[in-house]
Amino acid sequence: DWTMSAYREQMIEKIRKQVGKGRVLCALSGGVDSAVAAVLIHEAIGDQLTCVFVDHGLMRLNEGDQVVSLFREHFNIPLVSVDASDLFIGKLEGVSDPETKRKIIGGLFIDVFEAEAKKIAADGKGAPEFLAQGTLYPDVIESVSFSGGPSVTIKSHHNVGGLPARMNMKLVEPLRELFKDEVRALGRELGLPDSFVGRHPFPGPGLAIRLPGGVSREKLDILRKADAIYLDEIRKAGLYDTIWQAFAVLLPVQTVGVMGDGRTYDSVLALRAVTSVDGMTADFYPYDMNFLGRAATRIINEVKGINRVVYDVTSKPPGTIEWE
Ligand code: XMP
Repeated sequence: DWTMSAYREQMIEKIRKQVGKGRVLCALSGGVDSAVAAVLIHEAIGDQLTCVFVDHGLMRLNEGDQVVSLFREHFNIPLVSVDASDLFIGKLEGVSDPETKRKIIGGLFIDVFEAEAKKIAADGKGAPEFLAQGTLYPDVIESVSFSGGPSVTIKSHHNVGGLPARMNMKLVEPLRELFKDEVRALGRELGLPDSFVGRHPFPGPGLAIRLPGGVSREKLDILRKADAIYLDEIRKAGLYDTIWQAFAVLLPVQTVGVMGDGRTYDSVLALRAVTSVDGMTADFYPYDMNFLGRAATRIINEVKGINRVVYDVTSKPPGTIEWE
């Protein structure tokens, strides 16, 4: 793409100018935006960049491993990966209030990232003075219009936004002028695999906000399995790229079922899929009932602990995309 290759060159120059010989830290979230920002910055300044991936244990099946191997093996970009799953899941156990969950996760993320940043600063190569973020244009707009609008917090978002103020670092934000589809085009231009670039958005607090009622390792495992099957069926039906975002929510409700000649008393799983342009508004996806039947049958047969599947037909507004 001509425009993107020009943009890429322009941004590389700009990053070099801003950073000089300085060091840059980048927090990888596992999502597309921070990954594209990191690869672009690496192209500009090479090993002046250090990436940090905080694994909170709330990712989808294999997603954490995919980011780590994409950076280390595919791109050969140095990456510090911190397994903090015990810490996060431990602090979340017994917490069911959605905002409390979000605040715990956001706070722990900053603690863990800060501790890593201190270690990196002590490695003899000088303290990093820059922090890279994959902020997009809609993120910029959203925070502006929110501050001018009514002061109602629907959800406190967790991303790397809380870091700079506390860490007193200068920001490097090469995607600030781009929309999501442009970031995807730039990612392809930079050689990120299509399967990675086309990923559905995933919230910073991860699967924790898809477990209403409380988080535990056992529930996370059940949700991860069911979610993977649901997405597999979506891909097989050729629907992945038409849908903005699809995921499963494991409900804290048990219902009676029958399997073989026995009674079951297991959890209900809700499936969600929406179309959207920017996530601000969304429509529920009008699946063919045969598709839903297929997905439900597979999930109930293959995932122990689930015996009923329902589909969420709420658009945004009045619903939000995530349940919490
Ligand atoms: P809602 O649920 O507010 O979500 O309709 C809109 C979009 O934002 C994602 N989302 C988040 N993304 N940190 C993020 O980076 C968050 O805390 C967060 N909460 C929701 C959500 O998945 C959807 O794409």
